Amino acid sequence: MNEKVNLIKESFEKDLLSIADLKKLNDVRVEYLGKQGKVTELSKMMKDIPNEQKKEFGMLVNEVRNYVTSSLDEKKKELEEKALNEKLASEKIDITLPATKIPVGSPNILEKIIEEVEELLMSMGYDVVDGPEIEEDHYNFELLNIPKGHPARDAQDTFYIEDDKLLLRSQTSPVQARVMLANKGEKPIRMICPGKTYRRDDDDATHSHQFMQIEGLLVDKNVSLSDLKGTFDVIAKKLFGEDCKTRFRPSYYPFTEPSVETDISCFNCHGKGCSICKNTGWITVSGAGMVNPKVLEDCGYDPKVWTGFAFGFGAERLAMLKYGINDIRTFYNTDLREVKNFDRKDGE
Ligand code: DAH
Repeated sequence: MNEKVNLIKESFEKDLLSIADLKKLNDVRVEYLGKQGKVTELSKMMKDIPNEQKKEFGMLVNEVRNYVTSSLDEKKKELEEKALNEKLASEKIDITLPATKIPVGSPNILEKIIEEVEELLMSMGYDVVDGPEIEEDHYNFELLNIPKGHPARDAQDTFYIEDDKLLLRSQTSPVQARVMLANKGEKPIRMICPGKTYRRDDDDATHSHQFMQIEGLLVDKNVSLSDLKGTFDVIAKKLFGEDCKTRFRPSYYPFTEPSVETDISCFNCHGKGCSICKNTGWITVSGAGMVNPKVLEDCGYDPKVWTGFAFGFGAERLAMLKYGINDIRTFYNTDLREVKNFDRKDGE
């Protein structure tokens, strides 16, 4: 009998070595400890054992059962640990790998340049105001000293909506008239108005039927052209760098007297002459001037008491110069590659 017990033990030891997974382990457990398992069968043989051998046989069978049970438990633990380690290894995350870059949007540089001008002028006490894009001829032209038949109307090929009355504003200057009228000739004014303007231009690299202007107006007592020069100087230096120089050239606008074109020194060649400044060393960035007394008067300000200056920047032109963009249409097409390129140009 003892021989049989030993044989079962030996066969179990062999089977134990062949266990490679939990399923096999369960099969072996059933084979030895199940209802008809080899060890269970040994216990059942107890009744046929002569009394004097029962004790010894019983001890032997118990020993084998304990051995089989503990060996299988140990094996189970080992297999479970191995499975866990394999799982952990397969799920390992390399935290040193570069993270996936999540694309985030960014403001269009046209927007940025407008914000830059807004912030600067707000710090100088200017209000940012808005005006209607569908405008009346009265504000867009008449109040700005551009009566019907005035040749200056031709320069601004206007989209009329209603004959001689309603139009898409061809400039942001009508907002000057609106703000002056709203202040009833009583208060000093410092305002800028960035906004869309429309002209019946053919779209090409430097023209667009819709573009942005930044209008500025200051009305107070004792305002002179040198105040305009100083203000323009600050704006130019902020946008184009501290070594940017400025100059005024005489010009003509019906709503300013005198009128000037404002130039900045070429940031590219610093005055030596290059293709950007057409070899002049200077780049024109806005129109400006002292508010024409007739405009002040028509808008309710007494020109004997009040004086003022005004300026009008083309926002795209500023952005094109600052970011080296040579086609105005780039701002308005929806090619994301172009927009991303703006970010790069902005050093982000
Ligand atoms: N409104 C002018 C234009 O569209 C630009 C301009 C020139 C605005 C002189 C002004 C100014 O306020 O003073 O061409």
